[in-house]
Amino acid sequence: MASMKLSAPASQWVGGRKPLDRGASIRPAFRRVSVPVVRAGSYTDELVQTAKSIASPGRGILAIDESNATCGKRLASIGLDNTEANRQAYRQLLLTTRGLGDYISGAILFEETLYQSTTDGKKFVDCLCEEKIVPGSNNESWCQGLDGLASRCAEYYKQGARFAKWRTVVSIPCGPSALAVKEAAWGLARYAAIAQDNGLVPIVEPEILLDGDHPIERTLEVAENVWAEVFYYLAENNVVFEGILLKPSMVTPGAEHKEKASPETIAKFTLKLLNRRVPPAVPGIMFLSGGQSEMEATLNLNAMNQGPNPWHVSFSYARALQNTVLKTWQGRPENVAAAQKALLVRAKANSLAQLGRYSAESESDEAKKGMFQKGYTY
Ligand code: 13P
Repeated sequence: MASMKLSAPASQWVGGRKPLDRGASIRPAFRRVSVPVVRAGSYTDELVQTAKSIASPGRGILAIDESNATCGKRLASIGLDNTEANRQAYRQLLLTTRGLGDYISGAILFEETLYQSTTDGKKFVDCLCEEKIVPGSNNESWCQGLDGLASRCAEYYKQGARFAKWRTVVSIPCGPSALAVKEAAWGLARYAAIAQDNGLVPIVEPEILLDGDHPIERTLEVAENVWAEVFYYLAENNVVFEGILLKPSMVTPGAEHKEKASPETIAKFTLKLLNRRVPPAVPGIMFLSGGQSEMEATLNLNAMNQGPNPWHVSFSYARALQNTVLKTWQGRPENVAAAQKALLVRAKANSLAQLGRYSAESESDEAKKGMFQKGYTY
């Protein structure tokens, strides 16, 4: 078992040991192996380079990987039908924004967008490359499980994607049971190993939902538990830590808790979690916004960057980068330029927050509106 783990690609043992077997087999592996348990796959150097370039100072990720159904909800909020042409128009607005690459290093795309072009016939992937933004794919929204994941990753690599995202949801009010946490962690680790085998930097995202009335201490406890399991299985699967990125939720009280926490408190609890659980070999922590208002998400990120961190602490926001843009656009061609300007405003604000230099003084009322929805699904 030990030698197979070192020489075979991780994707060859999908059907192997299950998470709950861990106690039985881990000790012999440590006794027989004296070299570091890290896979040296053909893509290793490229993975490390890709992860490093996404985690570059003052930049973060634009997440526009909503499934067609979720994109439909965004479009419905401004009175548009969920047609392919409307989804294309919206993504075109976002991905052809000049200067976006000054603040955005990666864009997570839904499969439809990865293969789509502008109305003038230019591939969206090429629009991103011109801005030095790394295109990435989303592997979870049309999730078919781990079966076939290797060939899907290989296809996305051919199409220009260099990273992938897998999101697993953990709900605090629903438990979470020890079994649910193990299964979530194991699935994320298998996906990460398979993505790396096929040249894609895996973004590992166990989203701990904001839902619930629990205090911030409870969120920290659950998050510590989840990340301990995730890193245990990432190591078990010989994932190269220098070639991954994380997408955690910030540690906040439940959305229905009686007291709200300040950005300083959220930063203190979130950094405590990261320092306790995330090895410094990981290049970047790219937070999700999870229903926070645009301004809250930016303020919280800024508070986390007031001192040096061992990793690049940045953003991978969907709602907190798109809200004002959508409201400005309203589906009208004559509003495209103003909507692109609004995107640059948000992207720049988060870029400054990544550097710890953001001030909320000139924020609009729209940016202050919370976006939390109970039971939100992507
Ligand atoms: P939000 O920033 O809207 O929570 O999106 C997170 C996400 O996972 C999208 O990729």
